[in-house]
Amino acid sequence: MDPIARDLSRWIPTLLDVWRDAHRRGSGPDDRLLPGELREVASGVRKLSRGLTGARDLAGSRYMDEPSLLGAYLLFYWPISYAQARHALRSLPTRPRSALDLGSGPGPMAFAALDHGVRTVTAADRSEAALEIARQIAVRRGESLSIRVWKAANQPVPEGSFDLVMAGHLLNELWSGQPDATPRRAGLVERAFERVAPGGRVLILEPALRETSRAMLAVRNLLLTRGIVPLSPCLYRASCPALVKASDWCHAEIPWEPPEFIASLARAAGLHKESLKMTAMVFGRVAESPACPEDPALFRIVSEPLASKGRQRFMGCGPRGRVGLSLQTKHLSDANRRFARLQRGDLVRVEGCEEKGDGLSLGPDSRVEFAKT
Ligand SMILES: C[S@@+](CC[C@H](N)C(=O)[O-])C[C@H]1O[C@@H](n2cnc3c(N)ncnc32)[C@H](O)[C@@H]1O
Repeated sequence: MDPIARDLSRWIPTLLDVWRDAHRRGSGPDDRLLPGELREVASGVRKLSRGLTGARDLAGSRYMDEPSLLGAYLLFYWPISYAQARHALRSLPTRPRSALDLGSGPGPMAFAALDHGVRTVTAADRSEAALEIARQIAVRRGESLSIRVWKAANQPVPEGSFDLVMAGHLLNELWSGQPDATPRRAGLVERAFERVAPGGRVLILEPALRETSRAMLAVRNLLLTRGIVPLSPCLYRASCPALVKASDWCHAEIPWEPPEFIASLARAAGLHKESLKMTAMVFGRVAESPACPEDPALFRIVSEPLASKGRQRFMGCGPRGRVGLSLQTKHLSDANRRFARLQRGDLVRVEGCEEKGDGLSLGPDSRVEFAKT
């Protein structure tokens, strides 16, 4: 079993226990909700889903202070954010010893960091109710978690020196809809860097929606002008090419089989959760970051396979920018066979292509190999 899935399945009984306690329920099974509980939580999940990903009228509101929504967040979105964070933490070059989790809510990223091997973690949020749930989880699991009440808009980033500052699904909730949202969010990331130890990193996760992903890319562009560079997933350090066309955005998609607990809650709420989708970016200070790769044959795959008759197509993004890559099925060969199996997020070297239109066309002699930066 994948270690992230295994660890996540161990969290479910704790989350259920904390939820039942907070809602003054009696005891129940430790791996599933009773039918009445399932209906109640599913209703909260539907409200959260509509409010955070549909109409987005809950984004930035105090939904964590509403017990039924905090409960639904704990049982449905906590495990998803936990799994997202565990995957994103793998993209860090070294394991941080200390981390600060901004906008932690009930702490999925904080506990993911502890499971990743980070020794000391501080969770900060404006919702005292969500922090209290994080505290109860820590107590039940014997984890040591520091907690700070923190209001992003008018308080300094909590004091300390951390190898990693994380913010999961927070930025899109701040200054939402305001004309100066981009500089204010970039300003918060800059202030977070004031708490980052030398050589440390900032990890931002955002929802994989077009609007929130593009807003994050605009923040990325502004940070570039202020000596803060995107280290992952970007292989390109100029203005993000996904912002050129209004229909483009950039996100990761990780194949995922959710635990049965989440799958049944998703079914009850009428949602689909077959993969983990997120916009995830790691930032570093330019002076403390490796140089940007220059190899023009290097690409991150930034699309799913794009339907095209007689051809396989992907979008790749690399040191030469965002480029369409295509291979006619009749040109499949041993050298390029991997092309057919590429997935969003893969890092590949593609050699021996021809420029065609605004993209690259692979032929039978083109080579496709998985790469490392
Ligand atoms: C979508 S939740 C994310 C929780 C967790 N980080 C995760 O990834 O699942 C957004 C969190 O940001 C917090 N938040 C929103 N606005 C805030 C603000 N102005 N100051 C501090 N926290 C804020 C909310 O209370 C909520 O816990």
